[in-house]
Amino acid sequence: MTTLGAIGATPRPGSTTKKAFGKTPEGQPVDLYVLTNKGGAEAAITNYGGAVVSLKVPDRNGKLADVVLGYDTADGYVNDKSYFGAIVGRYGNRIGHAQFVLDGKAYTLAKNNGENSLHGGIKGFNKAVWTAKVLSAKDGQSLELSYLSKDGEEGFPGNLQVKVIYTLTDANALKIVYSATTDKKTVVNLTNHSYFNLAGQGSGDILGHLLTIQAEKFTPVDSGLIPTGELRGVAGTPFDFRKSMAIGARIEQDDEQLKLGGGYDHNFVLGRAGDTDESLAARVVEPITGRVLEVWTTEPGVQFYTGNFLDGKSTGKGGVAYPRRSALCLETQHYPDSPNQPRFPSVVLKPGERYDTITTYRFSTEK
Ligand code: GLA
Repeated sequence: MTTLGAIGATPRPGSTTKKAFGKTPEGQPVDLYVLTNKGGAEAAITNYGGAVVSLKVPDRNGKLADVVLGYDTADGYVNDKSYFGAIVGRYGNRIGHAQFVLDGKAYTLAKNNGENSLHGGIKGFNKAVWTAKVLSAKDGQSLELSYLSKDGEEGFPGNLQVKVIYTLTDANALKIVYSATTDKKTVVNLTNHSYFNLAGQGSGDILGHLLTIQAEKFTPVDSGLIPTGELRGVAGTPFDFRKSMAIGARIEQDDEQLKLGGGYDHNFVLGRAGDTDESLAARVVEPITGRVLEVWTTEPGVQFYTGNFLDGKSTGKGGVAYPRRSALCLETQHYPDSPNQPRFPSVVLKPGERYDTITTYRFSTEK
């Protein structure tokens, strides 16, 4: 059973505790929920931006390490420009020229990334205070976060009621169930922006992590990182992760797409097994600790990003710096710029419909 422990209580296996995490610039208090599963793995989540603040999972000897980047207090998230651990919306990744047309009407968004809109705009879902509720779950610890994104917020049409349920299962998986409804036709693309380093946050780069991505194709980009519309085969390119490969093995190759991204920062087209169930999207192995991360999702794409914009300047948890490529992201999603790309799977949500996606980060170990 899920129990909500007293503020400041030491987390015990099979419990969820809540503690103060700081305040927004407007003075609104925000909290940190610490979900501890029966085996002692732990996910700490704040209702500021719905961010996963820390995620402690065992290595092959049972030793826990925190495998995500983040900050010690809400202040860090208020000032953050990297989206550490956050829920990203209303539209994850980029919309070209910060505009799109729905039913003949043009919508203009803020240009917060060159000419383009990135991750929901200036004040995306990562900067919102979500309403949190601890749920009881059979197989772990669950936290429900809700947010009403008002009609016109950041330029998007429709009141969008969003719900995200995080569950840390007793099998060491962090399951994220997203749902949303709208009262006007709109576009929606939600993701979680956790930055993983399976050796532990603050322990160097991720170039030695071994990666598999279940994708035959990816979406090449232009200089603004907007997809050109092409679905390009990965065969014979540094984007071929169909067989396990060290992330750093080809990252410095003389490849136009790698140069544009400053490394990997691309959407992979997932070969999905079914329509509604989650499929395996990617698998990451850290050979020294033996930690394994599998990403399962109902989404058609995943943004593989190698932390190319991290520069070591912002101070993370425990005072550590996060240099370039010290973590990787696997952001499950619809493809970037889908509102302007009729050939990509649709991101349109209509009144009466429900946006429903699931992504699970499963942790395990291997010898
Ligand atoms: C995504 C984008 C990157 C970068 C990060 C956040 O992964 O594709 O280009 O903007 O988010 O820094």
